[in-house]
Amino acid sequence: MRRDATPRRYLMCPPAHFKVTYSINPWMDPTKPVDLPLALAQWEDLRDRYRSLGHIVETLEPDPALPDMVFAANGALVVDGRVLGARFAYPERTAEAERHLDWFRGNGYTDIHEPSHVNEGEGDFAVTEHYILAGRGFRSSPLSHDEAQEFFGRPVIGLDLVDPRYYHLDTALSVLDGDEIMYYPEAFSPGSRGVLRRLFPDALIADGRDAAALGLNAVSDGLHVLLPQAATGLLEPLRDRGFEPVPMDLGELLKGGGSVKCCTQELRP
Ligand code: ARG
Repeated sequence: MRRDATPRRYLMCPPAHFKVTYSINPWMDPTKPVDLPLALAQWEDLRDRYRSLGHIVETLEPDPALPDMVFAANGALVVDGRVLGARFAYPERTAEAERHLDWFRGNGYTDIHEPSHVNEGEGDFAVTEHYILAGRGFRSSPLSHDEAQEFFGRPVIGLDLVDPRYYHLDTALSVLDGDEIMYYPEAFSPGSRGVLRRLFPDALIADGRDAAALGLNAVSDGLHVLLPQAATGLLEPLRDRGFEPVPMDLGELLKGGGSVKCCTQELRP
């Protein structure tokens, strides 16, 4: 199958103050040191890779009080140029939501919805051609799914996450192109697996090894799929489908429980 990359616009935040001082997911161990210069270099590598692929990368000002701000995907969901703000589940990250809203207000966005219910932006929302897939169980409230559906006027499909290692939807599922996705079934409840099978019968199914390398935390532009380099089992199946996998090393950020996708919020026109 012939694949085409389409130019994207992303919002990212440099990990200038990244550290692991608290633990709100099983990947975070505050006793493990973080190599900050290495984290920065890995992040810059990702940003530069996007730019060299022809994408626009906007950046947010990092805040020393918000060490998880590098995970910019969680700050909002932008579809059709409309912005659904985030509302974080844990107090440690609460203030990030306002930083994102300020950025949107200062960058020409006028259709902005401040949420009533907890949602962690693109951490739990994934946009396919026909649906918005929405995770629940660990972070985003099921009520945020209705809120997103009403705001965007797109069908929102709620999916139950059941494994604490895959606490956000974007740690277990990734949109490759149109209505084509890849995911790790075991991260979902039996009913949600059934929903995914029905809606996406041709999905690429990841195994436990690639999922545990956070291989589903990937970003696709329709051709290039940037993904954590340790998820080697995904390379062949992606190539077989006509994609060009681009392995990235974000090992330091993995200590916070995130990788490629978590660092990348897509600004959809
Ligand atoms: N430490 C962050 C948290 O637990 C990691 C967020 C990762 N972001 C993501 N989109 N999955 O909230």
